[in-house]
Amino acid sequence: MLKDFGAHPADRVPKAELHAHLEGTIHAPVLRKLAARNGITLPDGVLDDQDNYLWTDFNDFLKVYDLATAAIKTPEDYYDLTLDYLERVAMEGGLYVEILVSPDHVLNLGMALKDQLDALIQAIDDARERFGVETRISQTIVRHYGPENSVAAAKAAVEHLHPYITGFQMAGAEDAYTPADFRPAYDIAAEAGLRCTAHTGEWLGPDSIRETLAALPMVERLGHGVRAIQDPALVKELAERKIPFEVCPGSNIALKVFPTPEEHALKGLWDAGCTITLASDDPPYFHTSLGAEYRFAVDVAGLSVPDLYTITRNALNAGFMDETTRAALMMRVSASEAA
Ligand code: ADE
Ligand code: ZN
Repeated sequence: MLKDFGAHPADRVPKAELHAHLEGTIHAPVLRKLAARNGITLPDGVLDDQDNYLWTDFNDFLKVYDLATAAIKTPEDYYDLTLDYLERVAMEGGLYVEILVSPDHVLNLGMALKDQLDALIQAIDDARERFGVETRISQTIVRHYGPENSVAAAKAAVEHLHPYITGFQMAGAEDAYTPADFRPAYDIAAEAGLRCTAHTGEWLGPDSIRETLAALPMVERLGHGVRAIQDPALVKELAERKIPFEVCPGSNIALKVFPTPEEHALKGLWDAGCTITLASDDPPYFHTSLGAEYRFAVDVAGLSVPDLYTITRNALNAGFMDETTRAALMMRVSASEAA
């Protein structure tokens, strides 16, 4: 949690995030605990002695992410790290989180997908009861593992459906293959009733977003999408189509998608009328948190506290959840606003 949580006007706003990579939420002490109990020595170059994740650029970040993930060995590990993250996000006012998990990672670990999902489902139930936070799962294919793997991952995902597993998407290296190469995987997911989003416009520019929306018409939201800002006509179109953006400023700034915080696209997209949501992506890797993203929107992008309420409602409207859950969460937001 933010050290001085409660000191900033953004802190009292209830929050919702549609984009948190589960394996990217693992706090260093938790990673060390998992590694120790699994008898694993973390490879050099994952954490420094101050417990910072070590990476140099986007591709190196993806590599370190995979190295760190190898410390997870059991469904109990998944339970513990999920509950730990959900507690931390709830402490900062998080009401709703979509966690991104990759069947590829689980299968690489030699774990049965069902065992992993059972652990996540238990953690989601326990987090609701203990911390009041609601959570849904987005099954995530990894672009740089290739289209063939993505079909295998999508098939594995749809063999294990559950009411908490509501989303499907692709992450990983945006320049690996083309969006159309992943259409077969998306078709499998969409036919099984999963709702879709995609990392796009994070590392590549406006063309990548156009290509993604054209090749994958089931995609309803943009994971990042922030590089749309380079093309005013595209921004106008996305605003008019009310396509929600999953904006992760801390990640974008750490990865140098924008050279300085002041140059981040959040303000420009907001002013253009885009449907904005905020999320933390891989918080400890980027020294951020959902609370810090909400503060950024005020301190750097100049949004107001009422704007932050709109952002939370945008996320709940765009969240892949059932209508009863949505209505209950919306009531909590309204109660907070009225207080
Ligand atoms: N996997 C984990 N974090 C990611 C990001 N920000 N972009 C693409 N793939 C990711
Ligand atoms: Zn991401």
